[in-house]
Amino acid sequence: MTFTAAPTDLSGKTCLVTGANGGIGAAAAEHFAALGARVLTTDIGDRFTGDCASEHRAFDLASDDGLSGCCEWIANEVPDVLFNNAALFDMGSVLQANLDQYDRLFAVNVRAMYAVLQAVANALVAADRPGSLINLASQAGHRGEALVAHYCATKAAVISYTQSAALALARHKIRVNAISPGVIDTPMWETVDALFAKFENKPIGQKKREVGRSVPLGYMGHPSEVARVAVFLASDQSQYMTAQTISVDGGNVLR
Ligand SMILES: NC(=O)c1ccc[n+]([C@@H]2O[C@H](COP(=O)([O-])OP(=O)(O)OC[C@H]3O[C@@H](n4cnc5c(N)ncnc54)[C@H](O)[C@@H]3O)[C@@H](O)[C@H]2O)c1
Repeated sequence: MTFTAAPTDLSGKTCLVTGANGGIGAAAAEHFAALGARVLTTDIGDRFTGDCASEHRAFDLASDDGLSGCCEWIANEVPDVLFNNAALFDMGSVLQANLDQYDRLFAVNVRAMYAVLQAVANALVAADRPGSLINLASQAGHRGEALVAHYCATKAAVISYTQSAALALARHKIRVNAISPGVIDTPMWETVDALFAKFENKPIGQKKREVGRSVPLGYMGHPSEVARVAVFLASDQSQYMTAQTISVDGGNVLR
């Protein structure tokens, strides 16, 4: 094989980003667009709030109607790259986290994640095209946490589906990997911080400062630091990688 140091280029690729109005989703959409991709975004809101051109559709992925609308869109558009990112966070130990919370978190973080992944995979197989599917896991998916029972379980499921999907789709030249962020400074952290304030009786903002300081690299990550890894996984630079979950966490999780 001849070695060529080609720059990363996503021109000619269509990239679909779910949860695109969130911190990490918007950053991924902007990075994909900056590298020449045609970007499709979806979120609950009618409008994409990020900073790049995209073709946006609003779907509530927790509802059957929203999910089937999104899957129909996918079948028509046949994206080459999926950034499967929409998710919800909530807290509670096994003594408190009830089945309503279980249903809400699993509906988006696992059920919708799976349905969207499956729709993109089927569209690519039908079109006989290769692709790169990227799921958003979490450091919470590698280890349970006393106060975060359901969210941790949803993210462990993302890692497992990533592996099963990668093995099933390898013969179709469709790669499936996951990114496992640590603590990234996004709107989700407003919710996380407020919940920890309640559960651990801390002032607002304290948990966020503590987790940032305890990262080996010394700070909370920026969404663009996750988006750069998304670009690598989306592009042919990672063509020999599949079934992997890559930690982007400043050194928080050692496996
Ligand atoms: N921020 C972190 O520290 C962190 C850490 C680990 C993993 N993650 C994961 O990274 C991904 C992005 O996280 P983020 O911090 O950018 O979150 P965020 O809350 O900023 O964005 C999540 C997006 O998902 C959308 N969404 C939620 N429910 C939806 C639904 N029913 N239908 C359609 N869209 C819906 C929200 O509207 C929001 O725009 C998530 O999968 C999250 O679990 C984040």
